[in-house]
Amino acid sequence: MLAGAVVLWLFVNGAFYFMSRIRPGRFDQTYAPHILIGGGIILPVVILSALLVWGLGILTDPRRPGDGLVVRVTGEQWWWRVEYWPEGATEPIISANEIRLPAGQRAEIHLTSDKVIHSFWIPALGGKMDMFPGRDTMISLAPEKVGTYRGQCAEFCGASHAWMAFSAVVMEPEAFDSWLEAEAEDAVEPAGDAALRGRQVFLSEGCGACHAVRGTEAVGQVGPDLTHVGSRQTLGAGRMALTLEDLTTWISHSEALKPEVKMPAYDLAPDRLDDLARYLEGLK
Ligand code: CUA
Repeated sequence: MLAGAVVLWLFVNGAFYFMSRIRPGRFDQTYAPHILIGGGIILPVVILSALLVWGLGILTDPRRPGDGLVVRVTGEQWWWRVEYWPEGATEPIISANEIRLPAGQRAEIHLTSDKVIHSFWIPALGGKMDMFPGRDTMISLAPEKVGTYRGQCAEFCGASHAWMAFSAVVMEPEAFDSWLEAEAEDAVEPAGDAALRGRQVFLSEGCGACHAVRGTEAVGQVGPDLTHVGSRQTLGAGRMALTLEDLTTWISHSEALKPEVKMPAYDLAPDRLDDLARYLEGLK
């Protein structure tokens, strides 16, 4: 395509140069309609049709069957519910707002949505696929290179559409397997007094009505599963970094940071807020 474009560019500019500098003057207009119809209609139609046929031939099927791993992603307002179904699994490993994939393997990403249409898109790894309420769509991805890639909702889905992102982490297959095993585990026990107090804050403030932390009495399914939230790279579906400071900011200003988010901003005493952040950050 580049070579063809260069040839055309040289031809058009050459003709322009010839007519304006080498042989300036009046030209016979007898052939003007032929040049316009030939060069302006017939030539582009022929070239673009040939490119279309060639391009369709090299398109790959975005819904090719995968190698075994199935990841189910549900678009929520405005975050991502993620379930891993390794081959032969009878129940899913539940996570949120981050997708991990093994390098060199083709994973099937099955997509659906809660209430509105979202669109699943990791630009560096493949095309985008819409997510519809009550309907399943699928895109299969075979990432080659280990690394972290940004994913983004690509369909306007409400006030915080622009804040609906996630990271896609591509890992070596062995590292992925051990990560997935750890992800399936219940939450770790809080390490230290602050984190222990933080768990008490988490449970007494009613966070567990919306969030699940497996291994505790928090089993809510409205918001993201937080069992291993501390191991994620971002907070609030790509909204902030996962640091102590951002955790406290998020908990106390969620509505300002993410318009119309379901989670209310919590007005906690600074020491309770700090304990809570320490607890969540420790949920590796
Ligand atoms: Cu979800 Cu835009």
